[in-house]
Amino acid sequence: MAYLFGVDYYPEHWPRERWRKDAEMMREMGISIVRMAEFSWAKWEPREGEFHFEDLDEVIEILAEQGIDCILGTPSAAPPAWIIRKNPEIQPIDQNGHRRAFGGRHHDCQSNPVYRAHIRRFVTAFAEHFGKNPHVVGWQIDNELGNSHGDLCFCPHCEARFRAWLAEKYGTIAELNRRWGTAFWSQDYASFEEIESPKLTVTGHNPSQQLDWMRFCSDLILEFHQFQADILRAAAPEKFITQNMMGFSDKFDYHKLGEQLDFASHDQYPGGHFRPVQGVFNGDRMAAEVDYIRSTMGKPCWIMEQQSGITGWEILGRAPKPGQLGLWATQCIAHGADTVVFFRWRTCTVGTEQYWHGILPHNGVPGRYYREIRAFMEQNRELLADLQGAMPGKAAAILFSYDQLYAMKIQPHHPELTYIDHLASYYDALYRRNIPVDFVFEEQDFSAYPVLIAPLQFLMTPALAKKLHDYAAGGGTLVLDFRSGVKDADNIAYSEGALPCLVDDLCGITVTEYDCLRDCMGRVNWDGVSYDCRWWSDLMELTTAEAIASYDWEFYKGTPAITRNRFGRGTVYYVGVGMTAPLADRFVDELVRQDGLRPLMDTPEGVEVAHREKDGLRWYFVLNHTGERQAPAIPAAWQQVYGEADRTLPPYSAAVYQESIE
Ligand code: GAL
Ligand code: ZN
Repeated sequence: MAYLFGVDYYPEHWPRERWRKDAEMMREMGISIVRMAEFSWAKWEPREGEFHFEDLDEVIEILAEQGIDCILGTPSAAPPAWIIRKNPEIQPIDQNGHRRAFGGRHHDCQSNPVYRAHIRRFVTAFAEHFGKNPHVVGWQIDNELGNSHGDLCFCPHCEARFRAWLAEKYGTIAELNRRWGTAFWSQDYASFEEIESPKLTVTGHNPSQQLDWMRFCSDLILEFHQFQADILRAAAPEKFITQNMMGFSDKFDYHKLGEQLDFASHDQYPGGHFRPVQGVFNGDRMAAEVDYIRSTMGKPCWIMEQQSGITGWEILGRAPKPGQLGLWATQCIAHGADTVVFFRWRTCTVGTEQYWHGILPHNGVPGRYYREIRAFMEQNRELLADLQGAMPGKAAAILFSYDQLYAMKIQPHHPELTYIDHLASYYDALYRRNIPVDFVFEEQDFSAYPVLIAPLQFLMTPALAKKLHDYAAGGGTLVLDFRSGVKDADNIAYSEGALPCLVDDLCGITVTEYDCLRDCMGRVNWDGVSYDCRWWSDLMELTTAEAIASYDWEFYKGTPAITRNRFGRGTVYYVGVGMTAPLADRFVDELVRQDGLRPLMDTPEGVEVAHREKDGLRWYFVLNHTGERQAPAIPAAWQQVYGEADRTLPPYSAAVYQESIE
């Protein structure tokens, strides 16, 4: 039987007398899975080698009596004070060379062998003990791996591993010197021993070294996960392993992590206090993150933490409006979640997260959040059971690459240009037209997708160039844009050929010059309409392409800004600028008109449609993210699964329809 709804539960924060009541209330609400334990090392091993799993056994038993199973997290994101006191050297070192102290979480170095020994001891005991319990059905390793590790860890152990990683990759130091271009600023190395982790220096670091450092950090986290996964799988091979990922978080490669997981999970906080614009709806980014996590493994995912109330640590976000909690959770289902676990059961009275609200408030008495989440579960239970395994149907593809992301992070070119925001300018325009999106990765087969958008292909390898050529030649519509084909995989600029290197013939253009739009917007003219553009302008000459939009300002006024080229049986667009929303909308309109992209339906602004399909059935989710009642024109052939009889949508609500596609 599938688990549909769950909660994250921290029984160690509450008196044991309360556990039974919590479990009964969970069952009564329709919860069948609980995630626990991921931060409670000190409770289960208060002194080295002295394991006390009795309390957790008892909680698992109490939950099981209510028909609730659980997922246990390994607690390696919070090594206890006694470990830190005994082995202070396991605390991580930041880019400034400062050791980070005990007191929060993630105060650990993931390569430190002493810390690994502590983890091995604990996780082995944990896995052997709970591995036998039939009510423990799966594991989560650590918590949000990569979280808080932004400028960690630069310690001597990590450095040593970095050197070993480099020696393995390059073989000889001469080869490394050549490929890193160390001739610049006298950075030649005589041996791998001379190479340090890229700590704070006086100016910028060598971009080739930085790229390898980021790749190394990603590999280290993957190996850290593998290290624990091996212990867990040896003890309990039948239990699943998942990881609660954070959408577009970039510290390590989620797609590669998929090789180690049974399924991917995601943490979804639409109104999280860390979101840049408080309380402003960001439905597109939320949809994109679930689409992304689903795409990492190409199958439905779980939401391991779904927002259950107002969020906050020291400062708070906006209160979710009536309906929003259920709407946001429904949006996750619409984009491919098979299970939704809410964070958290009850708002904590202690610690850093006292204001990160749970389904229940501090006093444990059900209120609005409880009622709304319960209503969401009731409304979606049967549907979600039917949906298990269903995926979105035909979609546009956006190519995602951590290498490109890292390289752009090292050299953003424009202070406001980020890889993710740039991808989002395409995603959001597709989202506004209700065109489904899959993210794809370089080694995948693109041929199933009618349209492939490949933004910022900054590092162009011959293998990637060949795949892109083959895709277009075979009839695909390919979108490439500025800063493509600038460098090789070592982050070294190409010294031969014309920009965009290795794909100039594919695009039918050459880029002869460029302009970085610092502190200004550019302008583009498309069929007589003028649009703002941002970040960048490529100045180009056409070889076989035609211009479909041209610049409307500056010394390059009238020259091509966006081009279209016929290549083989396909079409290749080259977008020389960063697109603002109106321009991106116009561009997607072009793809709809010329290249057969099909919107699921036209909707008023703030109303989204997403779909999933399986066994000849397609479900449409119509989501009203606005505070107004909306009346989108729902096709008559769609049969209502739930919603208002007159097919209108109250503020912050969802309706679901179904259609046979056989
Ligand atoms: C998540 C994390 C949880 C909790 C939550 C609220 O990022 O996985 O452990 O911290 O945020 O802050
Ligand atoms: Zn370290």
